Amino acid sequence: MNVRTVATKPFSDQKPGTSGLRKRVPVFQQPHYLENFVQSIFDSLEGYQGQTLVLGGDGRYYNQQAVQIILKMAAAAGFGRVLVGRTGLLSTPAASCVIRKNQAFGGIVLSASHNPGGPTEDFGIKYNISNGGPAPEKVTEAIYARSQVIDQYQILEANEVDLTKPGEFKLGEMTVEVIDPVTDYAQLMESLFDFDRIHELLTSGGFRACIDAMHAITGPYAHRILEQRLGAPAGTVHNGTPLEDFGGGHPDPNLVYAHDLVDILYGENAPDFGAAFDGDGDRNMILGRKFFVTPSDSLAILAANTRGVPGYKDGLAGIARSMPTSQAANRVAEKLGIECYETPTGWKFFGNLLDAGRATLCGEESFGTGSNHIREKDGLWAVLFWLNILAVRRQSVEEIVTQHWQTYGRNYYSRHDYEGVDTDRANTLVEGLRAQMAALKGKSLGRYTVDYSDDFSYTDPIDGSISQKQGIRIGFTDGSRIVFRLSGTGTQGATLRVYLESYEPDSAKQGLDPQTALAELITIADQVAQIQVHTGMEKPTVIT
Ligand code: G1P
Ligand code: ZN
Repeated sequence: MNVRTVATKPFSDQKPGTSGLRKRVPVFQQPHYLENFVQSIFDSLEGYQGQTLVLGGDGRYYNQQAVQIILKMAAAAGFGRVLVGRTGLLSTPAASCVIRKNQAFGGIVLSASHNPGGPTEDFGIKYNISNGGPAPEKVTEAIYARSQVIDQYQILEANEVDLTKPGEFKLGEMTVEVIDPVTDYAQLMESLFDFDRIHELLTSGGFRACIDAMHAITGPYAHRILEQRLGAPAGTVHNGTPLEDFGGGHPDPNLVYAHDLVDILYGENAPDFGAAFDGDGDRNMILGRKFFVTPSDSLAILAANTRGVPGYKDGLAGIARSMPTSQAANRVAEKLGIECYETPTGWKFFGNLLDAGRATLCGEESFGTGSNHIREKDGLWAVLFWLNILAVRRQSVEEIVTQHWQTYGRNYYSRHDYEGVDTDRANTLVEGLRAQMAALKGKSLGRYTVDYSDDFSYTDPIDGSISQKQGIRIGFTDGSRIVFRLSGTGTQGATLRVYLESYEPDSAKQGLDPQTALAELITIADQVAQIQVHTGMEKPTVIT
């Protein structure tokens, strides 16, 4: 085996964020940049010699080149086998599924999730551990620490390999197995949901769905599962071929970026159900006819409707939601008599709870929902869960949601993002909030009284690890909340996220537009944090 050792120097900016290392493509294209990070991953691991690594990505620009480099480095590092998706493709949930199913040592997923792709857009790389989930902080910290002192990496001298056909071959002493990216995942979905009933729903003629894969990785999965297996008419899946630049779009399934789908669901003769996914397939947006389901509500509704869903027929062990996610799920958990855990932002914090069997369903307000079937959030899973519920209940999406509110009350919810804020100014804003926190308790702000205000700190109930400064919370005595935090996934400047939530138990008052219901909290948020002053922006860049 011809392994070359290459001398290199550290790059100071290789600190993984909320979900791996994300940078503009030209940053990754610098000589040694990707190699340094990959070697830092390998150097931080122990005992992988001869073991299996899973590899694939969302197909964005630079995915192909990166896969070739990583394969050669994995061979040089001594992995026994790499399972790689055909043409280097694997959605994030499928990668998690393949890691678990094959008891792999871990996996490398190439994606910058919902960030745009293309020669000058974003690329990303994250490492997942043997449970199929994102590496916990102690691992990402070790990777970063290693990247700051690295002085060499190893790579096999070899030609590019052909990944277009499933099959097996040797790369140095390592076996490369090219797998179909969909098969394992499709089998898992079939084991969780009532495919017969969903098939009946989708072929009965009275029900129409429209699924927007946004030119990203979910296309092949949605085609195979929804159209070929479950009988949805051809054409149900829109934009189903993954493109390196996602067709120039922003593959983020929300009301702003998935506007084509929104137009269809809010247009003439609208379908009954709509959904969109992000770049790597782990996020989802659920729509009914002229109706938007807030992700926080979606989590609560899935939790309340496990009847007739085979994978969850034995009930739920618990629910987990990220701190900024609305408290709607707490109300369901309370009724079910199960725990609802509140974790920091980022899917990695759910891993321990899922592994320990404490939580079955998890969700984040950022259009992420999932369960213990894998260790990532899962866009198509959420869609299949919804279709299963619709097939069982035979009501519209809107009826299901409004009935849920009648039973549990409605948590009005919205997130306001201020993107591209100057980093220093964003930090000043956060410092300003921290300085006020102690004095806020008991204070009246408009019609609200502050119950507590803190910087969220989380102690993992399984391993006791502590994560501090996870977002500033101002909680009011009536259960309403404002949360402020800076994004950990952006690549340009800072993004301020403001999360607003109020609770309305009275069903006569549950029909407001959330921006109207939350108007006073929106004003309070600006006053307390001086958002306009610090950001120089009059309004958010994205409201979801
Ligand atoms: C965002 C979301 C978070 C999600 C992450 C990865 O992170 O807010 O819920 O886990 O993307 O998809 P943020 O940019 O807020 O750090
Ligand atoms: Zn994603």
